[in-house]
Amino acid sequence: MSIEGLIIERAVSADLREVHALEVRCFPSPWRREFFESEITNEGRYNLVARRDGAVVGYLFATWFADEMHINKIAVDASLRRQGIALAMMQRCLGFAAERGVTSIWLEVRSSNDEAQKFYAFLGFEAEYIRNGYYPDGEAAVVMMKDV
Ligand SMILES: CC(C)(COP(=O)(O)OP(=O)(O)OC[C@H]1O[C@@H](n2cnc3c(N)ncnc32)[C@H](O)[C@@H]1OP(=O)(O)O)[C@@H](O)C(=O)NCCC(=O)NCCS
Repeated sequence: MSIEGLIIERAVSADLREVHALEVRCFPSPWRREFFESEITNEGRYNLVARRDGAVVGYLFATWFADEMHINKIAVDASLRRQGIALAMMQRCLGFAAERGVTSIWLEVRSSNDEAQKFYAFLGFEAEYIRNGYYPDGEAAVVMMKDV
């Protein structure tokens, strides 16, 4: 499905206020804003925002090195989910990965986060192993991987 007026582009510093506001709404242990700031300026990052009517409605923050990529964050405004926005960002990311010779994409997801796990499974990610105590509150992460 495609959502009308959706623009996906590389995230820039001017997006950080909106990205962080969305992060706080979407995650129980949000990244601090300074962390996003360093991700924007660091090398080897692939960071996207999805915009509609000028407003940030989703973002994807990833790192990559050589043949491996890691999705650190992906979120979509709760009122706009199930309309293909995260899928559109991931497709853009997968295209970038393929162009750069990345062969595998990895991520961690909370073991209780069924919605995100279903989203990743839809994209072809498979659960590889469990990382106990990964999150600050002690919850385990499911480590998932997709071949590019
Ligand atoms: C996970 C998340 C990013 C998905 O964003 P989204 O824009 O709603 O996802 P899409 O609309 O692109 O979904 C594509 C497909 O993934 C699957 N999917 C996505 N969300 C799902 C859900 N809640 N339940 C079941 N399947 C789901 C479906 O197959 C969907 O296709 P369909 O709607 O045609 O059935 C969004 O739910 C979110 O922001 N969650 C909170 C933050 C979060 O948990 N991020 C991941 C941290 S690891």
